[in-house]
Order: sequence, then structure tokens, then C-alpha cells
Amino acid sequence: MIRLLPFVALSALASGSVLQQPLQNVVADSQALINSKPLISSEALQDLIKTENLRERSKELYKIAELSLDEYNHPTRVIGSPGHLGTVDYIYSTIAKLGDYYEISNQTFPAVMGNIFEYRLVLGNHVPQSAMAMSLTPPTKDKEPVFGPLVLVANEGCDESDYPKNTTGSIALIKRGVCAFGDKSAAAGKAGAIAAVVYNNSPGSLSGTLGEPSKDHVATFGISNQDAQPYIRELQAGKIINSSAYIDSVVSKVGTTNIIAQTKGGDQENCVMLGGHSDSVAEGPGINDDGTGTMTLLEVATQLVNFKVNNCVRFAWWAGEEEGLLGSDYYVSQLSEEENLKIRLFMDYDMLASPNYAYQVYDARDDVNPVGSEELRDLYTEWYEKHGENYTYIAFDGRSDYDAFIKNGIPGGGIATGAEGVKTKEEVDMFGGTAGQWYDPCYHQLCDDISNLNFEAWLLVAHSVATYAESFKGFPKRTSIMVTANEKGSLYHGPELVM
Ligand SMILES: *[C@@H]1O[C@H](CO)[C@@H](O)[C@H](O)[C@H]1NC(C)=O
Ligand SMILES: *[C@@H]1O[C@H](CO)[C@@H](O)[C@H](O)[C@H]1NC(C)=O
Ligand SMILES: *[C@@H]1O[C@H](CO)[C@@H](O)[C@H](O)[C@H]1NC(C)=O
Ligand SMILES: *[C@@H]1O[C@H](CO)[C@@H](O)[C@H](O)[C@H]1NC(C)=O
Ligand SMILES: [Zn+2]
Repeated sequence: MIRLLPFVALSALASGSVLQQPLQNVVADSQALINSKPLISSEALQDLIKTENLRERSKELYKIAELSLDEYNHPTRVIGSPGHLGTVDYIYSTIAKLGDYYEISNQTFPAVMGNIFEYRLVLGNHVPQSAMAMSLTPPTKDKEPVFGPLVLVANEGCDESDYPKNTTGSIALIKRGVCAFGDKSAAAGKAGAIAAVVYNNSPGSLSGTLGEPSKDHVATFGISNQDAQPYIRELQAGKIINSSAYIDSVVSKVGTTNIIAQTKGGDQENCVMLGGHSDSVAEGPGINDDGTGTMTLLEVATQLVNFKVNNCVRFAWWAGEEEGLLGSDYYVSQLSEEENLKIRLFMDYDMLASPNYAYQVYDARDDVNPVGSEELRDLYTEWYEKHGENYTYIAFDGRSDYDAFIKNGIPGGGIATGAEGVKTKEEVDMFGGTAGQWYDPCYHQLCDDISNLNFEAWLLVAHSVATYAESFKGFPKRTSIMVTANEKGSLYHGPELVM
């Protein structure tokens, strides 16, 4: 689950190569073997989903996150890290071991990843409290503190001519607005600044991203307008403000990979698709977010091989979700109209075992989302009702990988068990747990480890897969790839707050 705005995202590159999926030409005898299996049924598939297997997988995933220890000093599966590469290998090899049942494909796309380890800004004798290093900022020279006078840049610092001659060797103070933070940083770098500080033009602190890396970027901070004003007055009065800046960070371009596995059996023109994300944030191992989705999909895929399916089932493990839904965006952007129409619906599984959980169902509705989204929503709620469980609706607002699908005409939905939202007293009556605390108190933190799991919601995933693998009876047909009324912009996509 991607963090709520204001979101400081890393950036994705627009173009890239892809190893796309060849899906037909099943050899006749493996088809015969698949056909000899019993037809999928929800109860039979659920019976095979064992909590113990999921627990074992979560331990393995934690070990894989520890592959990043050398570089990050803690376990993580963020894209570009050994922990993420290990996760992708683990997913791929787990499916490959299942033999002929699935067609597996890798889809590699370019992304930019950055990591900020430490930063400090001192202006005169003061540390502005609101100072934050911008996402995807390069480090200061040699990752050491640099020293120079603060120089006020004219206008918004988007033009070369805004920078006074004495910007060389200085820390440039630039107003927010008109052009992107990355443009300001590059202009300051070209003018010879050793660092840049962008101050806000609206209330509050300023966190942003430089976006696509450039050789001209210099180490860049954001500060609030309130913090900046006293310095601006002093500079305008001709005062010299000796300052220092320090950022230790890395920015690099990486190739990262979605894994797609599709059943060779079943109607290849009518697929139920489901996905979870294989990556975590840099801060921790991401065992609930979204190790739980990753593991559930793996376990469901593993048990599904015992059955014959009528409709094809396509599993996806997305990369770069935490950087702005990069993998799922890229995947959907590469679908031809014909391929798009084969996907009858997409089910998102992100954060399934939050310790202070609520059973959350995305409130997907046919009037604002592609038709079929509501039928999927009702499948989930009917299941909870049948099992005597409570559930809540949560906003279907684009905070996870379903977003590219519903924006491109594909019905979508999903369930979750809660991220950094605060559990209410009413929800404690409904689900137990602790009021006033986050659903996942370890959301996006180091403690999102194997002790951070409440194994509850897995069976519903099996139910959803089995239901549609057996039949789309009554489920609306796909007719168009048109974007629907749901035009909420691109809140959580790619680099946010670039200006
Ligand atoms: C796909 O990715 C997996 C996992 O990283 C790797 O083992 C495999 O060789 C890749 N296959 C192709 C065709 O690139
Ligand atoms: C830089 O030059 C401007 C005039 O262009 C001047 O007002 C300012 O004081 C100078 N700053 C430093 C640090 O010399
Ligand atoms: C700023 O630093 C310069 C060079 O180190 C020094 O000569 C000057 O006295 C300092 N000015 C102030 C106001 O601290
Ligand atoms: C569902 O919520 C109600 C309160 O709204 C509560 O009385 C009931 O016990 C809950 N059911 C379960 C299975 O927790
Ligand atoms: Zn997340």
C-alpha cells in the first residue's frame, strides 16, 4: 500500500523494454493432464490453503529481506535492493517448480530508485526545523558537508538569469512555483551553487521530488515559507548568512521486474487476474506490506495446480508499487486493446494480515468504476456475511495497484486489512483489537516483520480465484477499454509533488 499524500515518490522513466508473454501453443499432453484434474471449486481450493504454509513463506521472505543488510543496515525488499531481487527470484522459482501448469513471464521496466541516509541544513546559526531533503536528490559533494553563503535567487529560479553571479559556491535559496523542483535544482547547479533550498509558497513544510535524475542537479532541500522569511529579509538587507548543507544519498537507475503467471488451461480469452506487490519500502522488510499479498498469491497458485479451470487465471507480482504504482501502471500501459479485453476483472491483494485488522472491502461501484467492479465487491461482502464476519467499506481511491486497471476499463476491486488508518471504537466492537491505534502499527517501518501478522483473510483470496476460474456466469462482459467517470487524476502515480 502506497503512503498517503503528501507523498514523496521516486520516479519512473517513461519508456522501456519488455519481455512480453507468449501465451498459446500448449503442448497437447500437458493439456490432457490438466483436463484430467477435478474442476476447481471454492471449498476444495480453500481446504488446501494452510496457515502453516503461509507462515513458512513469511519466514523465507524475511530471510530474503535480510539479503539487503550489507547495503541498508536493515532488512528491506525495496526495488533495486538484493532483498527485492531475491523476492523476484523466489516468486519466479516457486512458480517454475510447478511445472507445466503456468506460462511465466518477466516484464522488466526501468525505474529510478533513491535512498536518503542522512541530511542536515544549517542557515546562519540556525537549523530550520522544516528542512527536508527532497526525494531523488543527489548527495552533497563527496557526501560531506559543504559551506557557503546563502544567496537569494530572483523570481522562481526557473531561468538562468534569475541567478546572481555570486551564486557560484553558494547555497541558492529559491521560491517554489512555475517550474519543477528538478528544474530549479538543475538551474542552481548550472549557476555553480553547491546546494539548493526551495521554500514553500503555501503554508506547511515542503517535501518533493527532483524526479528524473540530471547531472546538473545539486543537493536540494525543501523548507517552509515561515522558516524562510526571516532569512529572506536579512538577505534583502544585504546581510551575509554563512550556511552549510549536508546530504548523504544515492540515486540510481535500475531495471525492475513484474512477474506474471497464467494458467495454460482455461479459456485464454477470458481471464481473472489478481495481483500483489513484490516490493517493500526502503525502511523495512514489508512482510505485511505486501509480503502477505505476495505469499497468498504464491500459495493459491501452488494449490490451484490440483484443479482444472474453465477460465484462465493470471497472477501478477508487481514491482515498484511503493514508488508510485510503477509496475502495474507499466503493465497496463503495454496492453493492446485486444489483450486488455481478455482481462475480465482485476483483484488487488495488498496488506492482508494487519495485526490490528479490520476486514476492509474496497467500495468499488459500477456507476463510477468499470461495470463489474461492484459485482466483485459484493462477492467479498457476501463471503464475510456468510461467515458471520463484519466488514467495512474503504475508499477505492487509487492507493494500490488496481488503479491502472480501473482507469483503463477493467473492473477491479479487492480487500485489505488496514494500513496507517486509526481503528475506531466501533471497529473494535466489530473486529476486536485496539481503538486509537493504527490497523498496522508497523506500516512502512522496520518492525513490519514476521511478528507483525494476523493470519485471517487468506481464504477469501482463494474463494475469489476459484469462483471466477470456474465461471463468469452473471459477471458483466467486457465491452470497452474506455476510461470511466472515475477521473481522479493520478494521485498516487509516479513522482508526486514535483513542483
Ligand atoms: C525471469 O526472472 C527470473 C527471476 O529473476 C530469472 O530467474 C529468469 O531467468 C528470468 N527469465 C527471463 C527469460 O529473463
Ligand atoms: C550576491 O550578490 C547580490 C547582488 O547581486 C548581493 O545582494 C548579495 O549580498 C551577494 N551575496 C553574497 C553572499 O555575496
Ligand atoms: C562568512 O564566511 C566568510 C568566509 O569564511 C568570512 O570571511 C566571513 O566573516 C563570514 N561572515 C559572517 C557574517 O559570518
Ligand atoms: C460484528 O459487530 C457487532 C457490533 O457491531 C458485534 O456485536 C459482533 O460480535 C461482531 N461480530 C463478530 C463476528 O465479531
Ligand atoms: Zn505500502
